[in-house]
Amino acid sequence: MASGKDTSSNQANSLWGGRFEVGPAEIMEKINASIDFDKILYAQDIRGSQAHCRMLVSQKIISAEDGDKILAGLDQVKAEIEAGNFTYDPKLEDIHMHVESRLTEIIGEAAGRLHTARSRNDQVATDFKLWVRDAMDQMDKALSGLQTALTDKAEQNAHVILPGFTHLQSAQPVTFGHHLLAYFEMFTRDRDRLRDARGRLNECPLGAAALAGTSFPIDRFQTADALNFRRPTANSLDSVSDRDFALEFLSVASICATHVSRLAEEIVLWSSAQFNFVTLSDKFTTGSSIMPQKRNPDAAELCRAKSGRIIGALTSLLVVMKGLPLAYSKDMQEDKEATFDAANAFSLIIAAMTGMVGDMTVNEASMKASTSSGFITATDLADWLVRVLDMPFRNAHHVTGSLVALAEDKGCDLDGLTLAEMQAVEPKITNDVFSVLTVESSVASRVSYGGTAPEQVLAQVKAARKRIE
Ligand code: ARG
Repeated sequence: MASGKDTSSNQANSLWGGRFEVGPAEIMEKINASIDFDKILYAQDIRGSQAHCRMLVSQKIISAEDGDKILAGLDQVKAEIEAGNFTYDPKLEDIHMHVESRLTEIIGEAAGRLHTARSRNDQVATDFKLWVRDAMDQMDKALSGLQTALTDKAEQNAHVILPGFTHLQSAQPVTFGHHLLAYFEMFTRDRDRLRDARGRLNECPLGAAALAGTSFPIDRFQTADALNFRRPTANSLDSVSDRDFALEFLSVASICATHVSRLAEEIVLWSSAQFNFVTLSDKFTTGSSIMPQKRNPDAAELCRAKSGRIIGALTSLLVVMKGLPLAYSKDMQEDKEATFDAANAFSLIIAAMTGMVGDMTVNEASMKASTSSGFITATDLADWLVRVLDMPFRNAHHVTGSLVALAEDKGCDLDGLTLAEMQAVEPKITNDVFSVLTVESSVASRVSYGGTAPEQVLAQVKAARKRIE
């Protein structure tokens, strides 16, 4: 026997150690083991193995008797894991070897027939796809909950007026319902992207074996069907080296988290004393240990921050994948931790955002008061000059600019100017102009499709509810 320095055990691996004389170095075992994080794939792994086993039996590759033993043994392994009396051992590397090794302890030699016509490469791709597919379905459900919270809040606030901003400068008055529905649209696109990605994910890699397919007469359509995949994957090399499905999941999550983060940022601003547009409920804020007046929007801040983590997961997997030759490389084991972590962060931020939106108090008076600075109806004045006096818009823009300068000098808003003062700038202006200078008339006038008028918002809420499904 060769002398193995720095080995944690002199025993070669019982599942693949046929040609090895000594066991791995301790650090090899540590860097190689994925069981700490891939143990959450146990249900997908057992489900995949049972589908594979049934196919092996129906294709007469293994006997029905062995098949029954394997199926029952796998049920027992699953029960043990779920009951919490399963022993994990880093020497067994990953969840796939843990399940098979325990199966061997329970049913003996027949367990060794389960791995016929497959490899851990197609096995892990299948397990991970099943997991990501479930995560996508949960993500979709969570997003529909957030959309419901947004539409409910939008309906209650269809008439509430606040400044709309561009460059964070007061631009034109908008309704709060309209503002919230902007986020509804973003989450609708996210759900579309998700559905689209799920469709592409939904092909089964099982049976691609190590990389080249197998000489056994397997039926890949049967296993694909049993695992609710649309069809088997078409190319065995691609099957074991593809992680697009995880990348797409992470990119949808990253784009969506970016939307959540923008809303979170607005909530942080709105809930500050300076804005005071909304008050967050006690359930989603924390106090300060030193400043008694504080009510910190921690949940919103963490939504904003966790989006960074999700984007990080996408970046990390892109970088892992970009240099890999076909087919499987162990690098790909690094696909899981970041994906699991991102999915967890994602479900936290959607739940927190749904709670915050539903629970926040809208401070209508503060929103309205904040529209009284910044000459927010200047565009309405220019539009009036165009509509009533038939002025070309560029001239109207210029006249309005002079009136804004005048109001600024006088220290009042546009409706604080007298008719005489306005006529000194443009003699044809009549008293009727004052009818467009209020924020109420401004929002009410914006009835174009998709516009901010309260009646538009209510119609959009109605349409939005139908789109949630
Ligand atoms: N734990 C491995 C992973 O997650 C399973 C696949 C191992 N395949 C292999 N050829 N060593 O990627």
